[in-house]
Amino acid sequence: MTIAWQGGDVAVVGAGLIGLAIAFELAERGAHVRVFDRAEPARAASWAGAGMLAPYTERIEDEVLLALCTESLAMYPQFVARVRGASGFDVELALEGIVNTAFDSAKLDALREHARELAQHGVAHELLDREATLAAQPALGRHVVGSLVVRGEGYVDNRQLGRALAAACEAAGVTIVREARDLALECDARRVLGVRSERGFCAASAVVVAAGAWSASIPGLPPECAPPVAPVKGQMLALAIPRGFVRRTTWAPGAYLVPREDGRLLVGATAEHVGFEERVTALGIRKLLDAALAAAPALGDFSITETWAGLRPGSPDERPMLGPTPREGLLLATGHYRNGILLAPVTARLIAEYVAHGDAAALAPWALARFGKEVRDAARIGEA
Ligand code: GLY
Repeated sequence: MTIAWQGGDVAVVGAGLIGLAIAFELAERGAHVRVFDRAEPARAASWAGAGMLAPYTERIEDEVLLALCTESLAMYPQFVARVRGASGFDVELALEGIVNTAFDSAKLDALREHARELAQHGVAHELLDREATLAAQPALGRHVVGSLVVRGEGYVDNRQLGRALAAACEAAGVTIVREARDLALECDARRVLGVRSERGFCAASAVVVAAGAWSASIPGLPPECAPPVAPVKGQMLALAIPRGFVRRTTWAPGAYLVPREDGRLLVGATAEHVGFEERVTALGIRKLLDAALAAAPALGDFSITETWAGLRPGSPDERPMLGPTPREGLLLATGHYRNGILLAPVTARLIAEYVAHGDAAALAPWALARFGKEVRDAARIGEA
């Protein structure tokens, strides 16, 4: 099936980093694109994440997903440069390595084993002893026993990226329809027709559903096209720390620490299956603080400046759902779970190539069709 955008617009439902990256890629390739969101662009999970770019440190065991994540990580510097170039906005990208810490001998053994696997994959890394770990990351507690630094991993400032990507889209000719009310898809029995909102109907030859955890609940989405996504809440907090106090992104038991150049230290994140509920709870924040202070007791003196929560779009097998659905022209780009920010560049490229050429071969591992009816029905019941 070929979806040629010539002769028809492309609509993207969802102005998160995934939807915006797709819109930007399509617009740069000459498509006429509209993005619809019921809120401002780059909110929800795109705003709530820490922006960690960490496929190895996250210990993704699915080799096919790991390969997609590492491909996207490799695309990041050029992706950010293109967004900067089009928007004129700077985006903080730091890929100087993530420090994965061990505080006991069992964890140190696990890191040594991980280092052997990284060596087999040809991934640059370093095993550090206690002294070298403390030299690399002096904020850690003296009881640290060692660490594994995975080179080339790090973070992007996802909030800056969201602002820049929205501006880059508009500079490339994308129309972003913000705070759209009554958003709905329109389909006939065979294909998608377009997107309706309170502002009227917008015909489109291709519609990409990129609405994160909400992707299954867009009115008008045919049941057989609904992705089995489910929200997974992540709570986070930020501390105000002196610049350089935490030098690099650090993975510790029960929490990760992500420093920003503006002096914030992001501490994340819980993973809670509590439905569409975004409350920050005492228990959630206590768990994060306990884990952060166990790893780096010196953080205890700093102010908490922000707490928040967001919903990751969970998927039954933790792989995203990308590409066609049973209705012609209706595409999915959702279910990225813990890796949405990381996977934005490669998702944009895969979807744009599919829209241009209609060849779904590269999308086979991510096809909605991999889930049987039972999985999709169970997801719908879980959501109700
Ligand atoms: N990728 C980090 C998280 O989802 O918490």
